[in-house]
Amino acid sequence: MVDTFPEPLAMLNREHDEEKKKLEELKGEISALKGTHGRNFQKLPQKARSLFLSIESELLIHMRKEEEGLFPIMRGDEDELWNLSPFIIEHYELVRMAKEIHEIIDTLNGINGKDESGKHLIKRLSVKTQLFGGFLSHHMEMEENVLFPMALEAMSEAELSHAHRLMRILETWPSRFLRS
Ligand SMILES: [Fe+2]
Ligand SMILES: [Fe+2]
Repeated sequence: MVDTFPEPLAMLNREHDEEKKKLEELKGEISALKGTHGRNFQKLPQKARSLFLSIESELLIHMRKEEEGLFPIMRGDEDELWNLSPFIIEHYELVRMAKEIHEIIDTLNGINGKDESGKHLIKRLSVKTQLFGGFLSHHMEMEENVLFPMALEAMSEAELSHAHRLMRILETWPSRFLRS
């Protein structure tokens, strides 16, 4: 793995680090919750909820920056030389998994403190979060070890700075992924 990437790859790399940190925190929150959920179910703490919501929304913007800011410039005119579709397919899977967790969290948020279904939902949330975290970690690892070095090799300085500009603009635009 390259130690230091130039922008905009460095930006994407920093966002990966941020997501990893928040994911670890979220997993800790959820496993602590599982431990205290023998008999009395209480609502999902606000901290776990807001951690997940921030992971989800930052991830959606991050993936859009990759797909619409980096990939088209990486590919240039030579589509056949690049096979970026596995990364895009994984993005769709990540969106699906995040949506599933989002729905569990919304359901948890709406049930009563003593509702028995809460215990089951917490277990489900824990499993789904583990799966999502594992998939996301693997995806980011592949990008850091394969995609970013490949981009570095293929793109000129001018193309990198063009991609950087595009990504900064995309940060502020509504995303086709974002939930209404
Ligand atoms: Fe990605
Ligand atoms: Fe990424």
